[in-house]
Amino acid sequence: MIFIWAEDQQHAIGHKGQLPWHLPADMAFFKQNTIGKMLISGSRTFASYKKPLPHRKNIVLTSRTATDYPSGVEVLHSASEVVTYEQAHPDETVIISGGARVFKSLLPYVDTLLRTRVLHKFKADTYMPEIDYSRFKLVESTAHEPDEKNPYGLVFERWERR
Ligand SMILES: NC(=O)c1ccc[n+]([C@@H]2O[C@H](COP(=O)([O-])OP(=O)(O)OC[C@H]3O[C@@H](n4cnc5c(N)ncnc54)[C@H](OP(=O)(O)O)[C@@H]3O)[C@@H](O)[C@H]2O)c1
Repeated sequence: MIFIWAEDQQHAIGHKGQLPWHLPADMAFFKQNTIGKMLISGSRTFASYKKPLPHRKNIVLTSRTATDYPSGVEVLHSASEVVTYEQAHPDETVIISGGARVFKSLLPYVDTLLRTRVLHKFKADTYMPEIDYSRFKLVESTAHEPDEKNPYGLVFERWERR
């Protein structure tokens, strides 16, 4: 499975239930990498989207039931259910969009990390769990300079498990 997230220079990912930043270049990267895939999000992260994201299978990790979500949204209840779900759909790509709690519980199973580094420090209340990068290999790194729409530098990275 794949993780996709953006973090700042202190590994911050969230503030008050939202992203700490507005960066259209990273939103475009997220869209490009999640369209057509099975997107799994924690209930807080899913709530931050306001509605299911189009052109993706939306799956929520929660202790609640599917009846609490719009039709078409699937619900899973544990990390092991995610693993079973992925095994049951070998022709699909499962991509995990966080948040921190979801990333932490699925860390043992992740193969690919799509990390955006935001070259700034933000006020935050949610942080990426610690990842042992010696277990992964950096296979792609693309810098995006600040521009009129994206006030901070970005680095798009792809890491594969060794
Ligand atoms: N920068 C980024 O790339 C990025 C990515 C994602 C999120 N974020 C930010 O991070 C914050 C949200 O992260 P968060 O850690 O607070 O919340 P979260 O992981 O999105 O959601 C937590 C909720 O998901 C459910 N959940 C998580 N792991 C579970 C598991 N293993 N089994 C069953 N249910 C599980 C529980 O739902 P119930 O309480 O419903 O049972 C839990 O309360 C927001 O600020 C968001 O904007 C940032």
